[in-house]
Amino acid sequence: MKVRADAPLEMLGPLGCGIQTGAGAVLNALKVGAGSSFAAFGGGTVGLSGVMAAVVAGATTIIAVDVVAERLELAMELGATHIINSHEEEPVVAIQRITGKGVDFSLESTGRADVVRAAVEALRPRGTCGIVGASKPGTTFELDMNDVMQNCKVLRGIVEGDSIPDIFIPQLVDLYLQGRFPMDKLMRFYPFEEINQAAKDSERGKTIKPIIRIGH
Ligand SMILES: NC(=O)c1ccc[n+]([C@@H]2O[C@H](COP(=O)([O-])OP(=O)(O)OC[C@H]3O[C@@H](n4cnc5c(N)ncnc54)[C@H](O)[C@@H]3O)[C@@H](O)[C@H]2O)c1
Repeated sequence: MKVRADAPLEMLGPLGCGIQTGAGAVLNALKVGAGSSFAAFGGGTVGLSGVMAAVVAGATTIIAVDVVAERLELAMELGATHIINSHEEEPVVAIQRITGKGVDFSLESTGRADVVRAAVEALRPRGTCGIVGASKPGTTFELDMNDVMQNCKVLRGIVEGDSIPDIFIPQLVDLYLQGRFPMDKLMRFYPFEEINQAAKDSERGKTIKPIIRIGH
C-alpha cells in the first residue's frame, strides 16, 4: 500500500497489525464517540492504540486496565483519564466507582477468559465489548446470562480493527504527523545486534513495541 512521501517508514511496520487493530477496534468497529466512556482491558500495543484512538474520538472517560505499572503510566501519558492495576484493585468495582453505571465500550486485548467476563461486567446497560485478544484454540469463557440479557449488552469479535488498510493506515499516519496519535511513545528501536535484548524486553513487558533496525 502507498503512504505519503513524508511518512516515517521505519515506524510503520506495527501499523500493519497491533496498532491498526487497537485503533481500528475503537474507530471502525466499536465507533467510540465524543463524550463516551471506554475501557481498555490490556495495555499492550493493541490496548494502548485503543486508548490513543479513544482520545482522537473525543471519549471523555478513558480507562486503562493492566497488571504492569509502567504500561499504566504510559496509558496516562497517552491520554487515559483513569488507570486500574488489576493486581491491586478489582477492575469491575473500580470502573463502576469511576463511571457510576459502567462504560459505554470495552476492549479485551489480553486473551484471557476471566478478563472477557470482567470487560462485559464493566459495561453499562446497552454497552458493547469488543474481543481482540487471541487465546489458545478451544478456550471458552463464561458470562452471567442475565447480566447480558437484562442489560442488553453486546459482545463482538474484531479482527484487525475492521480496517481497510489502504484507507485506515494513511489516516493513522496523518494523525501521527499532526501530533494527535503519538504512536512513537510505544516504540523502541534496537540495532540488529541487540535482537536478544529486544526479545527479553518485550517478554518482560518493558518495551511495548520493539523494532529491529538492520544495517544501521
Ligand atoms: N484480533 C486481531 O486482529 C488481533 C490483532 C493483533 C493482535 N491480536 C492479539 O491481541 C492481543 C494483544 O496484543 P498486544 O500486542 O497488545 O499484546 P501484549 O502482550 O503487549 O498486551 C497484553 C496486555 O495484557 C496485560 N494483561 C495480562 N493479564 C492481564 C489481566 N489479568 N488484566 C489486565 N491486563 C492484563 C499485559 O500486561 C499486557 O500489557 C494478543 O493476544 C494478540 O495476539 C489480535
